[in-house]
Amino acid sequence: MSLKLGDLAPPFTAETTHGTVDFHQWLGDRWGVLFSHPKDFTPVCTTELGALAMLAPEFERRGVRVIGLSVDSLDAHREWSKDILAVTGAAPNFPMIADHDRRIATLYGMLDPQAADTATVRSVFVIGPDKRVKLTLTYPASTGRNFDELLRAIDSLQLTARHQVATPVNWRPGEDVIIVPGVSDAAARERYPDGWRAPTPYLRYVPAEPGSATHRRH
Ligand code: BEZ
Repeated sequence: MSLKLGDLAPPFTAETTHGTVDFHQWLGDRWGVLFSHPKDFTPVCTTELGALAMLAPEFERRGVRVIGLSVDSLDAHREWSKDILAVTGAAPNFPMIADHDRRIATLYGMLDPQAADTATVRSVFVIGPDKRVKLTLTYPASTGRNFDELLRAIDSLQLTARHQVATPVNWRPGEDVIIVPGVSDAAARERYPDGWRAPTPYLRYVPAEPGSATHRRH
């Protein structure tokens, strides 16, 4: 069965390029991104892992730990890292799980049912500090992911976890946010004494709050 939003991210212990990792312990009270890629020494994956390594300060700034997975061996991960560095200018600086028995890939539903060689698809799980799944993405092997979009979604997740707001289409940090429908106008007036902009009664925009994640730009 596939994992649904709100499910507990299944705990596991795994061998990684950074040693043995107990996933929940390693996350601590931070946010996490667990992602899979189909195979080492493949072109799209090479571009993805270099890009992720370069974005490390952005994940760090948001208090997010990143961990990758493929069904290849630790030796293959280490050897491939040299290529990634040579090609993209950055080597993976996050742990890469060697899931050679596909244990974790099976646990998280990352295996491609259409693939003959049971490679993983391009899965992403964003996990909150409560260890619950907050967002999932599944891309086919042939489509590289957009990690800027992942960061944007994490900004929204972290903001909406703290405030009773939602973020509109294509929202970027610093832009207006939406008061969630569950908050009555009376309650909203207490929280936003300066009022809001409402093109319809149920679409209530308020400015991003100073000091909140809504003011972060990247
Ligand atoms: C790639 O990373 O380039 C890739 C991997 C598996 C299938 C297709 C592309």
